[in-house]
Amino acid sequence: MDVKKAIEQRRSIRKYKQDDVSDDLVRKVIEAARLAPSGNNCQPWRFLIARDELKEKLKQDGIIMQSWVYDAPVLIVCCADPRVYQKKHVDGWDDANVLRSVRDLSIAAEHMVLRAEELGLGTCYIGWIKKDEIKNTLDFPDHYQVPYLITVGYADEKPKPRLRKTYDEIVLNPK
Ligand SMILES: Cc1cc2nc3c(=O)[nH]c(=O)nc-3n(C[C@H](O)[C@H](O)[C@H](O)COP(=O)(O)O)c2cc1C
Repeated sequence: MDVKKAIEQRRSIRKYKQDDVSDDLVRKVIEAARLAPSGNNCQPWRFLIARDELKEKLKQDGIIMQSWVYDAPVLIVCCADPRVYQKKHVDGWDDANVLRSVRDLSIAAEHMVLRAEELGLGTCYIGWIKKDEIKNTLDFPDHYQVPYLITVGYADEKPKPRLRKTYDEIVLNPK
């Protein structure tokens, strides 16, 4: 599958088959994140792979708002460590390190989503989570950012493409 096809056919998947996703496939997905670009090559991303027991822990603590998420065989909890950047933040020039870390993480996350598509796996970003509480549940350092997790599994639905803005709506014209 080429990148264009993966971009065009990816959908957010909210219904999964109960078939397991092998460790090998999950590793391939994470490998796509590992190769992503990042500011000063600082690679702030950290990932926690949650299967049965950890998913149950998240469920018990009521971390995820939508119950279907727990039915996905694998959750990749996406974290960013703002302390990886060596240079001090300069106002008006460098963005704040929290922003930098989440920005870099998100580039890596989309690498994963597209690679998963190529591997025949469905995914969905899940930002509707309790962002502070999840750090306690999973014993993450307090300075970590956890903007979302990603569900991974074999799709049990075929959603239609969702509406997108047109080219002219998103490309700005200089005045
Ligand atoms: C950062 C981010 C957070 C999201 N959070 C959620 C979420 O909490 N729950 C959910 O069902 N979908 C979530 N989505 C999925 C979007 O709703 C979805 O991408 C959008 O409606 C477009 O649909 P598509 O992905 O199928 O093209 C999120 C997407 C992104 C990029």
